[in-house]
Amino acid sequence: MKVIQVGIGGMGNAWLNAVNRSEVVQFAGFVEINEEISAAQVAAYDLDPATIYKSLPEALDALGSVDGVINVTPPQFHKAVTLTALDAGIPVLTEKPLAGTLDDAQAMLAKAEETGILLTVAQNYRCSALARTVKQVLADGQLGAVGAVDVRFFKGPHFGGFREEMPHPLIIDMAIHHFDMLRYFLDSSPATLYAHSWNPSWSWFGGDASAAVNMSFQNGIVANYTGSWCSQGIETPWNAHWRFDCENGVLSVEDDAITIQTLGGEKQPIELLSVERQGQDFLLHNFYEAVMNGQPTIAPAQDNIHTVEMVFAIVNACDTGQVIKLG
Ligand SMILES: NC(=O)c1ccc[n+]([C@@H]2O[C@H](COP(=O)([O-])OP(=O)(O)OC[C@H]3O[C@@H](n4cnc5c(N)ncnc54)[C@H](O)[C@@H]3O)[C@@H](O)[C@H]2O)c1
Repeated sequence: MKVIQVGIGGMGNAWLNAVNRSEVVQFAGFVEINEEISAAQVAAYDLDPATIYKSLPEALDALGSVDGVINVTPPQFHKAVTLTALDAGIPVLTEKPLAGTLDDAQAMLAKAEETGILLTVAQNYRCSALARTVKQVLADGQLGAVGAVDVRFFKGPHFGGFREEMPHPLIIDMAIHHFDMLRYFLDSSPATLYAHSWNPSWSWFGGDASAAVNMSFQNGIVANYTGSWCSQGIETPWNAHWRFDCENGVLSVEDDAITIQTLGGEKQPIELLSVERQGQDFLLHNFYEAVMNGQPTIAPAQDNIHTVEMVFAIVNACDTGQVIKLG
């Protein structure tokens, strides 16, 4: 399978490495608008400079048809890159968020539906060994029905770049992973939610870096999310800390370790599933299997649109102070 990667700086490194590790996916070429980044990546990855183009249409003109596009540009460019690829009949694996706005995401989904071409999203957190183990323990029935979920996320990264300028960086760029995990774990989407966001006095982000969200899911489960991207210590892992209060016990995830306790029983550590691939390796192989062998992907746009709707409903709740009802 031959792919073009659009955007080779930043998170593009993870995809350059994933394709280089893959036995079944190879690069046909790259698109990068920043010449300094192109030069640095040519040196770091031994790329042929003649295969790096300035735009996707230019790359497609030069390379002819390819089997897939991996889009690793910042969110505001996701729509243009995706529409170009889908119009050319080329499947797209795009980084999260599907788009920087709900309108863009809906336009991208509409194009995927109109063309019948695959558009799938890199929600890598839902395909980690940790997430897949939690999902399996919840599904195996010993804890009974989930009643409530509590999610806590605290980190203080200094990224620079678009995240420090965008509105709601925590919610749109980071917590989207945790919200998507909630949808994955609970097999449901929120029916109503309310939320509050704020920017601590010491924040280095322009938009609100902290938020608290309360969500009632369509299947009756209630979830609370508290997070900050300008925490000054005692950080949680990127996966966050989780507590599932269930009918017959509790499942907890602390520091990437899973513990359960059933009614009257002892606390019991749960070993992570042994998985062949996770992260970008999983997503890339999942994309390959979808394009070449017609298999389903883990986060197609048709499903992921509900994660995007959830994220922008939370933004709306923060901006208006209203309780938001989702369709
Ligand atoms: N899944 C994850 O865990 C994860 C982690 C980090 C970033 N991301 C996502 O990856 C995407 C990129 O984020 P980043 O941190 O790498 O951003 P970045 O700004 O560090 O890098 C983006 C790269 O794309 C290039 N670029 C920008 N516009 C372009 C265009 N129109 N055509 C070609 N190249 C273009 C830039 O020059 C740069 O090299 C975002 O959607 C972000 O949310 C996902």
